[in-house]
Amino acid sequence: MKKVFKITIFNFLILILLIASSSFAAGSDDLKAGEKLYKRKCSVCHGDQGQGAIAKKIKDPAILNKPDEELRKFITNGGNGMPAYGKTLKPEEIDYLVVFLRSWAK
Ligand code: HEC
Repeated sequence: MKKVFKITIFNFLILILLIASSSFAAGSDDLKAGEKLYKRKCSVCHGDQGQGAIAKKIKDPAILNKPDEELRKFITNGGNGMPAYGKTLKPEEIDYLVVFLRSWAK
């Protein structure tokens, strides 16, 4: 009986560990998803490192210091030659893109 109890506690701890580590993994998955989307949708105009190509450089502190909400809105609505992605990307995909753009600020 005592042994069974120990195994249960052990399994419980493993479960907690699994839950904790999968939420860490989700963070880097967002980043990877954002990078993939960026390469597919954005790099033609902004360059694959955000250095600028046919559209302006966006790896720029003046842009990366803007709040998430503002970046999200801009990607959703576009303007001044920037296409609107509100219809072609899901809100969570736009979030992944913001996570990816943020990774340049580090
Ligand atoms: C057809 C070319 C084109 C594509 C594709 C494009 N952009 Fe842009 N983007 C622009 C242009 C042009 C501007 C400049 C708008 C301005 O000066 O206000 C811009 C501006 C921006 C800005 C800066 C906004 C600011 O505050 O100054 C961000 C951030 C941005 N784009 C992100 C993205 C992301 C993310 C994608 C991919 C989902 C993307 N862009 C795809 C043309 C493009």
